[in-house]
Amino acid sequence: MAHQSHRHHHSASEPGEPHMAALLDLDAEVLHAHLSEAAAWLADLTGDVPVRRILDLGCGTGAGTFTLLRRFEEAEALAVDASPQLLHHLRDRARDLGVADRVRTVEADLDAAWPAIDGMDVVWASASLHHLADPDRALREVFTALRPGGLLAVAELDGLPRFLPDDLGIGRPGLEARCRATLTHRQAGTLPHLGADWGPHLSRAGFAIEAERPVTIALEPPLPRSAGRYAQTVLSSMRAGLDGLLSTDDLSVLDLLIDDDGPESVLRRGDLTVRTERTVWLARRPAVAG
Ligand SMILES: C[S@@+](CC[C@H](N)C(=O)[O-])C[C@H]1O[C@@H](n2cnc3c(N)ncnc32)[C@H](O)[C@@H]1O
Repeated sequence: MAHQSHRHHHSASEPGEPHMAALLDLDAEVLHAHLSEAAAWLADLTGDVPVRRILDLGCGTGAGTFTLLRRFEEAEALAVDASPQLLHHLRDRARDLGVADRVRTVEADLDAAWPAIDGMDVVWASASLHHLADPDRALREVFTALRPGGLLAVAELDGLPRFLPDDLGIGRPGLEARCRATLTHRQAGTLPHLGADWGPHLSRAGFAIEAERPVTIALEPPLPRSAGRYAQTVLSSMRAGLDGLLSTDDLSVLDLLIDDDGPESVLRRGDLTVRTERTVWLARRPAVAG
């Protein structure tokens, strides 16, 4: 299997790999119910046909890979990503979870030459299509990688989750919204497909759309401790891109929020929530070319 060059699109609010691995693992831990629900939707559509071959595109640390391996017990997964560090992390987790013999990783830049893949029963692409320079080309490759009748799940988000109330009780109301607005403006240049409507892209690539499901996630207190670490990791990655773009007063309060210690830290605030909007598209390669 070819190992291609690594052309990786980080945006201002996206951390480097060690930080990214932690963020993706926390995302999977805190939002596991949403992932399991999406896997159940896929299972509903597979009918009686067993799922044996799964492809996870832009797999990161394997949130989708492991969710699908749990749901489809006879399946093996091919996990593809441009980042060797994230794939290494995924293989470690596969060993810890006792599924190493069911997972194979491939390092590939999905904007470059694709690995030769065909006969897949299910393809999963979560929060990865919007990173690609040419997602339409990738979707045509996915179409070819699937067996006729096979299913594609695309899960996408409109941005990073929100955690904080407007009034933090320590001044600077609306701080999180200002952080997001500033970074969204910058992201428009680096990630033009973030928040796209993927339905027309799927149709153009030849897929029949089975369902489009908006998912609103709103986790309220009391939250598990992992939610605080998730908020800290996301806000810290945002903080890294905000120097010089927000007032020093805003940045000082943000620093208090992401600090490990102190009463205002998101690790111990009682008013933390996790709010995010995601959409899942379920699409099928028609059994007979139409
Ligand atoms: C936001 S993460 C999502 C990871 C995982 N699918 C999940 O839901 O947790 C986006 C992933 O896409 C990968 N990626 C970005 N550009 C890529 C490219 N050109 N080729 C392959 N993978 C890419 C990144 O390395 C990262 O792992």
